[in-house]
Amino acid sequence: MKIVLSGIKPTGIPTLGNYLGALKNFVKLQNEMKDYDFFIFVADLHALTVPQDPKELKDNIRKLCALYLAVGLNPNNLTLFIQSEVKEHVELGYLMQSIAYMGELERMTQYKDKKQKQVEGVSSALFTYPALMAADILLYDATYVPVGRDQMQHLELTRTLAERFNHRYGDTFTIPQGIEPKQGTKITDLQNPTKKMDKSSENDKGCIYLLEDTNRIRKKIKSAVTDLDGCIRYDKENKPGISNLLTIYAALTNMEIKDIEEKYHDKGYGIFKDDLANIVVNEIEGIQNNYQQWINSPKLDEILDQGRIKATKVAQKKLEIVRKKMGYGR
Ligand code: AMP
Ligand code: TRP
Repeated sequence: MKIVLSGIKPTGIPTLGNYLGALKNFVKLQNEMKDYDFFIFVADLHALTVPQDPKELKDNIRKLCALYLAVGLNPNNLTLFIQSEVKEHVELGYLMQSIAYMGELERMTQYKDKKQKQVEGVSSALFTYPALMAADILLYDATYVPVGRDQMQHLELTRTLAERFNHRYGDTFTIPQGIEPKQGTKITDLQNPTKKMDKSSENDKGCIYLLEDTNRIRKKIKSAVTDLDGCIRYDKENKPGISNLLTIYAALTNMEIKDIEEKYHDKGYGIFKDDLANIVVNEIEGIQNNYQQWINSPKLDEILDQGRIKATKVAQKKLEIVRKKMGYGR
């Protein structure tokens, strides 16, 4: 069976950016690709690359698990697991560090960005993060990896590492392919629309969180930064604010951007934002209702236990092969 795999870091509450760039796409693909096995996980070890409050981290892990199901992933064709519960990730992550070059890791844009933001020093795990991400993917021989645009560079590196390994030790890993959603591949901050909407950002007003109060969400959309020209038109360079709102609108309604422009050609930003706020809130309310059912349900733990068992089985088998090929151990 071929595998589609992806993960999200439990750093803070997932945002509308995570939803449109990742979660919503997972659900869509799961509905479309019936012949594939879906492996979706919580990348908790990745969260540790920057300082975390332990209690908050624990809380965010469970919330993310419940959210995966609340957005509509079907548990009947899903291996849902927590990365750290499958120990093989760490071992293959280390092995991938032995394959990756410093220069390759130094070139990663996410590393360069995040490095700037660290106050207490840059952890070496932040630097080696893409090697662990490669391990997450290669352990399961994933064919497709749905991610937002910001992760494509990491995916390219994963392919490079897999090819290098295969070349050095003989055919071992499937070379994975990234898939980006059609719309919503990069949602930007509502207050700073040239920056990505990020759950670990300091600017709370620019970010819509999937579990926040819907009245606050309305306010955030209404106070989103736009421009003075008053025309609802997609132009990323000159009108990044409106373009971002159009992207969100299109991703949630499946409408083409040009049809939305047409619909609002004689309307002002106020009306457009009101409509958008209704669309966003309507979608998020549905998710929040489902979330309430999952978060305290014992079924959630059952799903996670089954996920851990299944993922471990696949990962152990793969790692056994890798150990033999690399020649370490007894
Ligand atoms: P992260 O929050 O960095 O763990 O990202 C999890 C997933 O969400 C990845 O597939 C990212 O590409 C995607 N993602 C995160 N932020 C955004 C955003 N602002 N727009 C689109 N996709 C995003
Ligand atoms: N690095 C991804 C992010 O920051 C999360 C992630 C970790 C991931 N391992 C992965 C995504 C494997 C896809 C596949 O968003």
